[in-house]
Amino acid sequence: MARSEPLYLDYAATTPPDPLVVEAMQVWLRGRPGNPASRHADGRRAAAAVARARGDVAGLIGAQPEEIVWTSGATESNNLALLGAARHQRARGRGDHVVTLATEHRAVLAPCEALEADGFSVTRVMPAADGSVAPADVADALTDRTVLVSLAPVNNETGVIVDVAGIAERVKAGGALLHLDAAQAAGRVPLDVTTLPVDLMSLSAHKCYGPQGVGALYVRSRPRVRLMPLLHGGGQEGGLRPGSVPVHQVVGMGEACRLAGERRVADMTALASLRDHLLAGLAEIGGVVLNGRRDGSPHVVNISLLGVQGEALISLLGDLAVSAGSACSAAARRPSHVLRAMGRPDALAHASLRVSLGRGVDVADVGEAVGRIRAAVAHLRRFSPVWRRLAAGESVASVYATATPLTVL
Ligand SMILES: Cc1ncc(COP(=O)(O)O)c(C=O)c1O
Repeated sequence: MARSEPLYLDYAATTPPDPLVVEAMQVWLRGRPGNPASRHADGRRAAAAVARARGDVAGLIGAQPEEIVWTSGATESNNLALLGAARHQRARGRGDHVVTLATEHRAVLAPCEALEADGFSVTRVMPAADGSVAPADVADALTDRTVLVSLAPVNNETGVIVDVAGIAERVKAGGALLHLDAAQAAGRVPLDVTTLPVDLMSLSAHKCYGPQGVGALYVRSRPRVRLMPLLHGGGQEGGLRPGSVPVHQVVGMGEACRLAGERRVADMTALASLRDHLLAGLAEIGGVVLNGRRDGSPHVVNISLLGVQGEALISLLGDLAVSAGSACSAAARRPSHVLRAMGRPDALAHASLRVSLGRGVDVADVGEAVGRIRAAVAHLRRFSPVWRRLAAGESVASVYATATPLTVL
């Protein structure tokens, strides 16, 4: 197939920094240095910039500035939240059980495995076939030994939105702490810790048009949530995350969060219309299974293409930057654990694509992407015995040997 121009539709993997973010960071990369811990004028200037950024990050989620702890990204925030809170709770004799969702990102599931190796027990709640999670199922997983519940309000692979308010109510009634991995949610769905009884929340700058390599953990101050730190050093960030604060990084994250607060509603309205356009285009290809829900976060569309082999599809798509499942599990070439938890057979999980949208994508880009997917799929289906069976009228359930209810677009 002819080579084509690069087209980036992988905004759930990372977003380009907004030009205003780059500008704000350049002030610190090009200008006078300053460590916010230093007492001289340059240090005080840096401290003021960090304080402003902390306020901007806090403002996006209705938190107080002192409730924000800088980290290197959502992976570190999740580790600090999960390991730090669970170990602190166990040391206080409160229990040794953690609840999460089977569909969480590896940055939550791997710390859960570390907790298991450390003697905790972990329950992973299964989703329905459309990726949704019933708050009652989370409630059923709680025991009198549960110290922490951790989940993502927006799933990174499917965009499915979790009923955080419904779950939070049940978790609080059970007395456990609630952690949100909001890497995909921040700037996309409303998050307000003044109304949501959330104790800990992970944020990542590069998922919302900030720089890579910086994130934050919200830690509720009233009532005070206590954590055992993972790192030991100079005592920065109240001892929770020692190390010199990278001024240019946090200034970039602050600006990204300020813009996210300002633009969230307009961004999501624009993305919802692009997402509908994308779904309509994909439906015209035929034989496309939706992995998720139509009312998910509009930045993610996850599909499986019937009668197509996943790796061959990705290689034919060439310079169309989309994901096969999550970027991280794609490296391991295992079928996505999220799609498997949603009951997709391996062959369908392997034949999945995540197209994710963001600022700067327009209708023409979506049309171009659909055209490239259509051409690749048509090419592969010509040689596909599976597609031949489907085209001859055999059902998807029988060809893929699955009882999972599937939504074919
Ligand atoms: C839901 C979720 N959590 C955590 C992460 C990890 O974020 P970071 O790259 O900031 O460590 C990601 C990134 O893909 C994500 O989507």
